[in-house]
Parts: sequence; C-alpha cells; structure tokens
Amino acid sequence: MTTTERLVDVGASQDVPERGRLVVEITTGTGAVTLGVFRFGGRLYAWENRCAHQGGPACQGRIVHRVTERLDDEQRSLGLRFDEDTMHVVCPWHGFEYDVVTGRHPGRPDLALRAFEVSEEGGRIRVAV
Ligand code: FES
Repeated sequence: MTTTERLVDVGASQDVPERGRLVVEITTGTGAVTLGVFRFGGRLYAWENRCAHQGGPACQGRIVHRVTERLDDEQRSLGLRFDEDTMHVVCPWHGFEYDVVTGRHPGRPDLALRAFEVSEEGGRIRVAV
C-alpha cells in the first residue's frame, strides 16, 4: 500500500469462504469500482470486475477449474480433466477465463484483470484503494 492509498472494508471474512467470491462496489478517488474478492488456497485475491476483453463483469461469471488434456508418450489424448489446483472465473459475456490467483487469461497472458491489494484482519476484509 502506498501513502496515498486507504483501506476500504469490503466485508466479513466469512463472506468469502474457500473457493468462494464476493462482488462489491467501492468508491475510490476517481469514482466507483466494482471488485471481485476470491479466496483460493486460503489466500484472498481482489480484481476489478472489468474484463480485459470488452469490459464485461468477469468476476461475476461461473467459477470453474482449469481444463487440461492428458497426453500419452506419443501425444495422443487421454482425455480432459479438471485441474483441482486451479480456480478460474469465466466472464459471462464471451467466455474469457481468468485464473483467480494471477488474474491472467491462461491462453493470453497479456490479458489480465486489474489487481487490488487485499488484506484480512480481525475477521474483516479490506482492500487498498
Ligand atoms: S467482455 Fe469478457 S469475454 Fe468479452
């Protein structure tokens, strides 16, 4: 957090369970911003609810695991599977996916959600704005 930022209380810790999400609108120095706060692997992540594609509400989409394809030694498909070690959110407008840990599209790392610093103390979640 920089000296010009302030912490905004966005909710109680129990509002964001493991693999859960909270979407909130906060006021910054430049206006209102909607954020998605996610918890994965015990950590919190906060992203602006604005898709890097065309500005859709990316944080309000379906939460899924990354789909991977298993290959044998000769690169033949053994089928698809969900990777339980990842958590993605899918923008409801056109289906762009974002990893909730990195905020990046898995196939287009140049596309990313805007990050906000998030912290938790005394059962409350706070975001730096
Ligand atoms: S605006 Fe999100 S996928 Fe197009």
